[in-house]
Amino acid sequence: MAWAKGKRILITGANSGIGLETARQLAGDQAELLMVCRSKERGEAAVQDILSEHPKAAITLHTADLSSSASIKKLVAELEASYDSLSLLINNAGGMFYSRMETEDGLEYSFGLNHMGYFRLTRGLIPLLKAAKEARIINVSSEAHRYASMNFNDLQSRRSYRAFGVYGQSKLANILFTRELAGQLHGTSITTASLHPGFVHTNFGHASQPGIFPNVFSYLARTFGKTAHQGAQTTVFLARSDAIVSGGYYANSSLRKPSRAARNDETAKKLWEVSETLA
Ligand SMILES: NC(=O)c1ccc[n+]([C@@H]2O[C@H](COP(=O)([O-])OP(=O)(O)OC[C@H]3O[C@@H](n4cnc5c(N)ncnc54)[C@H](OP(=O)(O)O)[C@@H]3O)[C@@H](O)[C@H]2O)c1
Repeated sequence: MAWAKGKRILITGANSGIGLETARQLAGDQAELLMVCRSKERGEAAVQDILSEHPKAAITLHTADLSSSASIKKLVAELEASYDSLSLLINNAGGMFYSRMETEDGLEYSFGLNHMGYFRLTRGLIPLLKAAKEARIINVSSEAHRYASMNFNDLQSRRSYRAFGVYGQSKLANILFTRELAGQLHGTSITTASLHPGFVHTNFGHASQPGIFPNVFSYLARTFGKTAHQGAQTTVFLARSDAIVSGGYYANSSLRKPSRAARNDETAKKLWEVSETLA
Protein backbone atom coordinates (compact mmCIF):
# COMPACT_ATOMS: atom_id res chain seq x y z
CA MET A 1 0.00 0.00 0.00
CA ALA A 2 2.79 2.40 -0.74
CA TRP A 3 2.32 3.03 -4.44
CA ALA A 4 1.76 6.80 -4.06
CA LYS A 5 4.88 7.30 -1.96
CA GLY A 6 7.21 9.86 -3.54
CA LYS A 7 5.16 10.00 -6.77
CA ARG A 8 4.12 13.13 -8.68
CA ILE A 9 0.34 13.40 -8.26
CA LEU A 10 -2.12 15.88 -9.76
CA ILE A 11 -5.46 16.39 -7.97
CA THR A 12 -8.26 18.55 -9.36
CA GLY A 13 -10.68 20.37 -7.07
CA ALA A 14 -7.98 20.14 -4.42
CA ASN A 15 -9.06 23.13 -2.32
CA SER A 16 -12.27 21.69 -0.91
CA GLY A 17 -14.00 18.57 0.41
CA ILE A 18 -12.81 15.21 -0.88
CA GLY A 19 -10.04 16.68 -3.07
CA LEU A 20 -8.53 18.66 -0.19
CA GLU A 21 -8.60 15.66 2.15
CA THR A 22 -7.11 13.42 -0.54
CA ALA A 23 -4.29 15.94 -1.04
CA ARG A 24 -3.73 16.19 2.71
CA GLN A 25 -3.42 12.42 3.12
CA LEU A 26 -1.15 11.98 0.11
CA ALA A 27 1.06 14.85 1.34
CA GLY A 28 1.79 12.54 4.27
CA ASP A 29 3.13 9.96 1.77
CA GLN A 30 5.88 12.35 0.66
CA ALA A 31 4.19 12.64 -2.71
CA GLU A 32 4.85 15.67 -4.92
CA LEU A 33 1.45 17.31 -5.18
CA LEU A 34 0.18 19.41 -8.04
CA MET A 35 -3.04 20.93 -6.73
CA VAL A 36 -5.36 22.20 -9.45
CA CYS A 37 -7.93 24.73 -8.19
CA ARG A 38 -10.07 27.24 -10.05
CA SER A 39 -9.46 30.05 -7.56
CA LYS A 40 -5.90 31.16 -6.76
CA GLU A 41 -7.05 32.51 -3.39
CA ARG A 42 -8.86 29.33 -2.29
CA GLY A 43 -6.02 27.24 -3.68
CA GLU A 44 -3.38 29.16 -1.71
CA ALA A 45 -5.44 28.81 1.49
CA ALA A 46 -5.65 25.03 0.91
CA VAL A 47 -1.89 24.79 0.31
CA GLN A 48 -1.24 26.66 3.59
CA ASP A 49 -3.71 24.41 5.39
CA ILE A 50 -1.85 21.26 4.24
CA LEU A 51 1.59 22.79 4.90
CA SER A 52 0.55 23.58 8.49
CA GLU A 53 0.18 19.82 8.97
CA HIS A 54 2.96 18.63 6.63
CA PRO A 55 5.53 21.47 6.60
CA LYS A 56 7.90 19.60 4.30
CA ALA A 57 5.27 18.68 1.69
CA ALA A 58 6.18 19.50 -1.92
CA ILE A 59 3.13 21.28 -3.31
CA THR A 60 2.62 23.39 -6.41
CA LEU A 61 -0.62 25.20 -7.08
CA HIS A 62 -2.00 25.41 -10.62
CA THR A 63 -5.20 27.26 -11.45
CA ALA A 64 -7.71 26.31 -14.13
CA ASP A 65 -11.42 26.42 -14.85
CA LEU A 66 -12.04 22.78 -15.75
CA SER A 67 -15.36 23.58 -17.43
CA SER A 68 -13.46 25.50 -20.11
CA SER A 69 -11.60 23.87 -22.99
CA ALA A 70 -9.33 26.93 -23.37
CA SER A 71 -8.40 26.88 -19.69
CA ILE A 72 -7.63 23.12 -19.78
CA LYS A 73 -5.50 23.62 -22.88
CA LYS A 74 -3.53 26.36 -21.08
CA LEU A 75 -3.14 24.14 -17.98
CA VAL A 76 -1.86 21.20 -20.04
CA ALA A 77 0.68 23.45 -21.80
CA GLU A 78 1.84 24.80 -18.41
CA LEU A 79 2.22 21.26 -17.01
CA GLU A 80 4.08 20.06 -20.10
CA ALA A 81 6.49 22.98 -19.79
CA SER A 82 7.09 22.33 -16.08
CA TYR A 83 7.27 18.53 -15.71
CA ASP A 84 8.69 15.59 -17.63
CA SER A 85 6.25 12.99 -16.29
CA LEU A 86 3.18 12.45 -14.12
CA SER A 87 2.44 9.27 -12.13
CA LEU A 88 -1.09 9.86 -10.93
CA LEU A 89 -3.96 11.98 -12.20
CA ILE A 90 -6.96 12.28 -9.87
CA ASN A 91 -9.98 13.75 -11.68
CA ASN A 92 -12.09 14.93 -8.76
CA ALA A 93 -13.46 18.44 -9.44
CA GLY A 94 -17.19 18.37 -10.03
CA GLY A 95 -20.58 19.46 -8.84
CA MET A 96 -24.37 19.25 -9.05
CA PHE A 97 -26.31 22.28 -10.26
CA TYR A 98 -29.99 22.94 -9.53
CA SER A 99 -30.63 25.06 -12.57
CA ARG A 100 -29.39 24.59 -16.11
CA MET A 101 -26.24 26.55 -16.94
CA GLU A 102 -23.82 26.40 -19.84
CA THR A 103 -20.03 26.41 -19.96
CA GLU A 104 -18.26 28.99 -22.10
CA ASP A 105 -18.01 26.22 -24.75
CA GLY A 106 -21.83 26.02 -24.85
CA LEU A 107 -22.14 22.66 -23.07
CA GLU A 108 -24.60 21.96 -20.25
CA TYR A 109 -22.49 22.67 -17.14
CA SER A 110 -22.65 19.27 -15.33
CA PHE A 111 -21.76 17.41 -18.54
CA GLY A 112 -19.16 20.04 -19.48
CA LEU A 113 -17.39 20.03 -16.10
CA ASN A 114 -18.00 16.55 -14.65
CA HIS A 115 -17.46 14.57 -17.84
CA MET A 116 -15.76 16.74 -20.47
CA GLY A 117 -13.42 18.20 -17.81
CA TYR A 118 -12.17 14.67 -17.00
CA PHE A 119 -12.08 13.71 -20.69
CA ARG A 120 -10.16 16.77 -21.87
CA LEU A 121 -7.65 16.88 -19.04
CA THR A 122 -6.93 13.16 -19.23
CA ARG A 123 -6.42 13.21 -22.98
CA GLY A 124 -4.14 16.23 -22.67
CA LEU A 125 -2.02 14.57 -19.98
CA ILE A 126 -1.60 11.11 -21.57
CA PRO A 127 1.91 11.96 -22.92
CA LEU A 128 3.11 12.99 -19.43
CA LEU A 129 1.47 9.89 -17.90
CA LYS A 130 3.10 7.67 -20.53
CA ALA A 131 6.46 9.20 -19.66
CA ALA A 132 6.20 7.84 -16.10
CA LYS A 133 7.42 4.31 -15.44
CA GLU A 134 3.99 3.36 -14.22
CA ALA A 135 0.95 5.64 -14.06
CA ARG A 136 -2.64 5.71 -12.89
CA ILE A 137 -5.80 7.75 -13.58
CA ILE A 138 -8.47 7.87 -10.87
CA ASN A 139 -11.91 9.26 -11.72
CA VAL A 140 -14.25 10.27 -8.89
CA SER A 141 -17.75 9.16 -9.90
CA SER A 142 -20.85 8.47 -7.77
CA GLU A 143 -23.55 5.94 -6.93
CA ALA A 144 -25.88 8.58 -8.43
CA HIS A 145 -24.94 6.93 -11.76
CA ARG A 146 -27.41 4.12 -10.92
CA TYR A 147 -30.40 6.45 -11.48
CA ALA A 148 -29.30 7.52 -14.96
CA SER A 149 -28.79 6.37 -18.51
CA MET A 150 -26.95 8.17 -21.33
CA ASN A 151 -29.49 10.27 -23.22
CA PHE A 152 -27.61 10.80 -26.48
CA ASN A 153 -30.72 12.44 -27.99
CA ASP A 154 -30.48 15.31 -25.51
CA LEU A 155 -26.96 15.12 -24.08
CA GLN A 156 -26.99 18.84 -23.25
CA SER A 157 -30.34 18.53 -21.41
CA ARG A 158 -31.98 21.27 -23.51
CA ARG A 159 -35.39 19.60 -23.62
CA SER A 160 -35.57 18.63 -19.98
CA TYR A 161 -33.39 19.47 -16.98
CA ARG A 162 -33.58 17.62 -13.66
CA ALA A 163 -30.55 18.34 -11.52
CA PHE A 164 -30.13 14.88 -9.96
CA GLY A 165 -30.76 13.05 -13.24
CA VAL A 166 -28.34 15.25 -15.18
CA TYR A 167 -25.73 14.90 -12.42
CA GLY A 168 -26.26 11.10 -12.40
CA GLN A 169 -25.73 10.99 -16.17
CA SER A 170 -22.43 12.87 -15.84
CA LYS A 171 -21.29 10.40 -13.15
CA LEU A 172 -22.38 7.46 -15.34
CA ALA A 173 -20.21 9.06 -18.03
CA ASN A 174 -17.25 8.94 -15.60
CA ILE A 175 -17.57 5.14 -15.28
CA LEU A 176 -18.12 4.59 -19.00
CA PHE A 177 -15.14 6.85 -19.78
CA THR A 178 -12.99 4.86 -17.32
CA ARG A 179 -13.98 1.53 -18.94
CA GLU A 180 -13.25 2.72 -22.47
CA LEU A 181 -10.02 4.39 -21.36
CA ALA A 182 -8.86 1.16 -19.67
CA GLY A 183 -9.40 -0.70 -22.96
CA GLN A 184 -7.52 1.91 -24.95
CA LEU A 185 -4.63 1.90 -22.46
CA HIS A 186 -4.38 -1.88 -22.32
CA GLY A 187 -0.78 -2.92 -22.89
CA THR A 188 0.61 0.45 -21.72
CA SER A 189 1.97 1.29 -18.27
CA ILE A 190 -1.19 3.28 -17.37
CA THR A 191 -4.15 1.86 -15.45
CA THR A 192 -7.38 3.61 -14.50
CA ALA A 193 -10.32 3.19 -12.10
CA SER A 194 -13.44 5.07 -11.03
CA LEU A 195 -14.97 5.29 -7.58
CA HIS A 196 -17.83 6.36 -5.36
CA PRO A 197 -16.64 8.31 -2.30
CA GLY A 198 -19.84 7.85 -0.24
CA PHE A 199 -22.37 10.49 0.80
CA VAL A 200 -19.98 13.11 2.10
CA HIS A 201 -20.45 16.41 3.91
CA THR A 202 -18.52 18.90 1.73
CA ASN A 203 -19.53 21.99 -0.25
CA PHE A 204 -21.10 19.63 -2.80
CA GLY A 205 -24.78 20.21 -3.65
CA HIS A 206 -25.29 23.38 -1.68
CA ALA A 207 -22.46 25.94 -1.59
CA SER A 208 -23.25 29.18 -3.45
CA GLN A 209 -26.58 27.84 -4.70
CA PRO A 210 -29.79 29.61 -3.69
CA GLY A 211 -33.11 27.94 -2.81
CA ILE A 212 -34.60 25.25 -0.63
CA PHE A 213 -32.94 22.16 -2.24
CA PRO A 214 -29.37 23.25 -1.40
CA ASN A 215 -30.46 23.84 2.22
CA VAL A 216 -32.08 20.41 2.48
CA PHE A 217 -29.06 18.77 0.84
CA SER A 218 -26.70 20.55 3.22
CA TYR A 219 -28.77 19.44 6.25
CA LEU A 220 -28.82 15.80 5.09
CA ALA A 221 -25.09 15.73 4.36
CA ARG A 222 -24.27 17.38 7.70
CA THR A 223 -26.49 14.96 9.58
CA PHE A 224 -25.97 11.67 7.75
CA GLY A 225 -22.88 12.14 5.58
CA LYS A 226 -19.30 10.97 6.04
CA THR A 227 -16.67 13.55 6.92
CA ALA A 228 -14.50 14.73 4.03
CA HIS A 229 -11.62 12.77 5.55
CA GLN A 230 -13.69 9.58 5.43
CA GLY A 231 -14.94 10.47 1.94
CA ALA A 232 -11.36 10.59 0.66
CA GLN A 233 -10.58 7.02 1.76
CA THR A 234 -11.42 5.17 -1.48
CA THR A 235 -9.47 7.68 -3.59
CA VAL A 236 -6.49 7.35 -1.23
CA PHE A 237 -6.84 3.55 -1.28
CA LEU A 238 -6.63 3.57 -5.10
CA ALA A 239 -3.61 5.90 -4.95
CA ARG A 240 -1.76 3.73 -2.44
CA SER A 241 -2.69 0.21 -3.62
CA ASP A 242 0.09 -1.80 -5.17
CA ALA A 243 -2.25 -2.84 -7.99
CA ILE A 244 -5.73 -1.80 -9.12
CA VAL A 245 -8.19 -3.46 -11.51
CA SER A 246 -8.03 -1.27 -14.59
CA GLY A 247 -11.48 -0.14 -15.70
CA GLY A 248 -12.90 -1.14 -12.30
CA TYR A 249 -15.42 0.80 -10.19
CA TYR A 250 -14.70 0.98 -6.46
CA ALA A 251 -16.60 1.97 -3.32
CA ASN A 252 -15.59 1.57 0.32
CA SER A 253 -12.10 0.65 -0.91
CA SER A 254 -13.27 -2.47 -2.76
CA LEU A 255 -14.44 -3.36 -6.23
CA ARG A 256 -18.16 -2.89 -6.81
CA LYS A 257 -20.33 -3.85 -9.79
CA PRO A 258 -21.71 -0.64 -11.33
CA SER A 259 -25.17 -0.43 -12.94
CA ARG A 260 -25.97 -2.36 -16.12
CA ALA A 261 -25.87 0.92 -18.09
CA ALA A 262 -22.34 1.53 -16.77
CA ARG A 263 -21.19 -1.90 -17.99
CA ASN A 264 -22.30 -1.36 -21.59
CA ASP A 265 -19.17 -1.25 -23.75
CA GLU A 266 -21.08 -0.03 -26.81
CA THR A 267 -22.37 2.97 -24.88
CA ALA A 268 -18.85 3.61 -23.58
CA LYS A 269 -17.52 3.64 -27.14
CA LYS A 270 -20.31 5.92 -28.34
CA LEU A 271 -19.71 8.35 -25.46
CA TRP A 272 -16.00 8.42 -26.32
CA GLU A 273 -16.73 9.22 -29.98
CA VAL A 274 -19.23 11.96 -29.08
CA SER A 275 -16.80 13.43 -26.54
CA GLU A 276 -13.99 13.40 -29.08
CA THR A 277 -16.19 15.32 -31.53
CA LEU A 278 -17.13 17.85 -28.84
CA ALA A 279 -13.49 18.19 -27.72
N1 LIG B 1 -20.01 14.93 -1.53
C1 LIG B 1 -20.63 13.84 -1.92
O1 LIG B 1 -21.56 13.32 -1.24
C2 LIG B 1 -20.23 13.17 -3.21
C3 LIG B 1 -20.84 11.93 -3.52
C4 LIG B 1 -20.47 11.28 -4.70
C5 LIG B 1 -19.53 11.86 -5.54
N2 LIG B 1 -18.99 13.07 -5.23
C6 LIG B 1 -17.99 13.63 -6.16
O2 LIG B 1 -16.83 14.01 -5.46
C7 LIG B 1 -16.12 15.03 -6.17
C8 LIG B 1 -15.66 16.09 -5.22
O3 LIG B 1 -16.78 16.73 -4.66
P1 LIG B 1 -16.83 17.25 -3.13
O4 LIG B 1 -17.90 16.51 -2.47
O5 LIG B 1 -15.48 17.28 -2.54
O6 LIG B 1 -17.40 18.73 -3.39
P2 LIG B 1 -16.79 20.19 -3.12
O7 LIG B 1 -16.41 20.36 -1.70
O8 LIG B 1 -17.81 21.14 -3.68
O9 LIG B 1 -15.47 20.22 -4.02
C9 LIG B 1 -15.55 20.33 -5.43
C10 LIG B 1 -14.23 20.86 -5.96
O10 LIG B 1 -14.34 21.01 -7.38
C11 LIG B 1 -13.92 22.34 -7.73
N3 LIG B 1 -14.57 22.86 -8.93
C12 LIG B 1 -15.89 23.08 -9.13
N4 LIG B 1 -16.10 23.63 -10.34
C13 LIG B 1 -14.87 23.77 -10.91
C14 LIG B 1 -14.41 24.29 -12.15
N5 LIG B 1 -15.26 24.80 -13.05
N6 LIG B 1 -13.08 24.26 -12.40
C15 LIG B 1 -12.20 23.78 -11.50
N7 LIG B 1 -12.58 23.27 -10.31
C16 LIG B 1 -13.89 23.28 -10.02
C17 LIG B 1 -14.33 23.18 -6.52
O11 LIG B 1 -13.68 24.44 -6.54
P3 LIG B 1 -14.33 25.71 -5.78
O12 LIG B 1 -14.05 25.50 -4.31
O13 LIG B 1 -13.62 26.84 -6.38
O14 LIG B 1 -15.80 25.68 -6.08
C18 LIG B 1 -13.88 22.25 -5.41
O15 LIG B 1 -12.49 22.35 -5.22
C19 LIG B 1 -17.08 15.49 -7.28
O16 LIG B 1 -16.68 14.93 -8.52
C20 LIG B 1 -18.44 14.91 -6.87
O17 LIG B 1 -19.26 14.63 -7.98
C21 LIG B 1 -19.32 13.74 -4.08
